Amino acid sequence: MNIILFGAPGAGKGTQAVNLVKNYKLTHISTGDMFRAAIANHTPMGDLANSYISKGNLVPDEVTVGLVKERLAQEDCKNGFILDGFPRTLPQAECLEDICLELNIKIDFVIDIEVDTSKLIDRISGRRVCKCGASYHIMFNKPKVEGKCDICGQDLYIRKDDNKDSVAVRLDAYSNQTKPLIDFYKKIGNLVEINGDQNIDDVFKEIVNKIGE
Ligand code: AP5
Ligand code: MG
Ligand code: ZN
Repeated sequence: MNIILFGAPGAGKGTQAVNLVKNYKLTHISTGDMFRAAIANHTPMGDLANSYISKGNLVPDEVTVGLVKERLAQEDCKNGFILDGFPRTLPQAECLEDICLELNIKIDFVIDIEVDTSKLIDRISGRRVCKCGASYHIMFNKPKVEGKCDICGQDLYIRKDDNKDSVAVRLDAYSNQTKPLIDFYKKIGNLVEINGDQNIDDVFKEIVNKIGE
């Protein structure tokens, strides 16, 4: 099974991806996580991506598409994957169609997690993340030990782009550049709409109900 996880910043893509990976044994591909790893390693792509991400802007399509294409060709994607945060623009979605043809891949579901903008800001402002990719919230999803990751024990931190100015730019980028993709996937016919405005477990249950065990 191959899935696209779609939704605004803070909608819960990363959180649900962790549950989906466990339940369906899929490979998690988060373009945001890949860029953050490249930034931490100071690669040339990381430095370039950082100049966009730190301000909340999208990284240029050619950079992002190249990264995803390379990743999807790897062996661990053959048994199914979750794309978290890609595609985010119409050109990215069109390129993904070409990549799928080339690699003989079919996207089974595009899961759109819908959450009100006012709630997105609460979610992002209380988020704490771990280098391992896990994501917590100081109110809604507390780690067992304050400030430490349940999975790997490392210190949690606040993402650099989770500040007021960058969040405003990210929400605008979502409305203007990413949201129009909902119609693109409605036409293809594989869009699954999920009410993201429920607790984490109930969102997951709704996804499993709609895509099947
Ligand atoms: P990315 O890392 O993908 O960030 P994003 O899209 O802004 O999404 P987030 O990771 O902020 O939110 P999420 O939906 O994963 O929410 P989470 O589960 O953490 O991208 C970062 C940047 O990289 C982009 O801005 C862009 O610059 C660049 N980039 C990435 N992909 C790109 C692309 N394709 N093209 C161009 N540029 C790209 O949850 C949020 C918080 O809410 C957490 O604290 C969580 O615990 C809590 N929470 C989750 N679910 C619930 C719930 N149901 N109830 C209560 N709280 C909840
Ligand atoms: Mg995320
Ligand atoms: Zn961790």
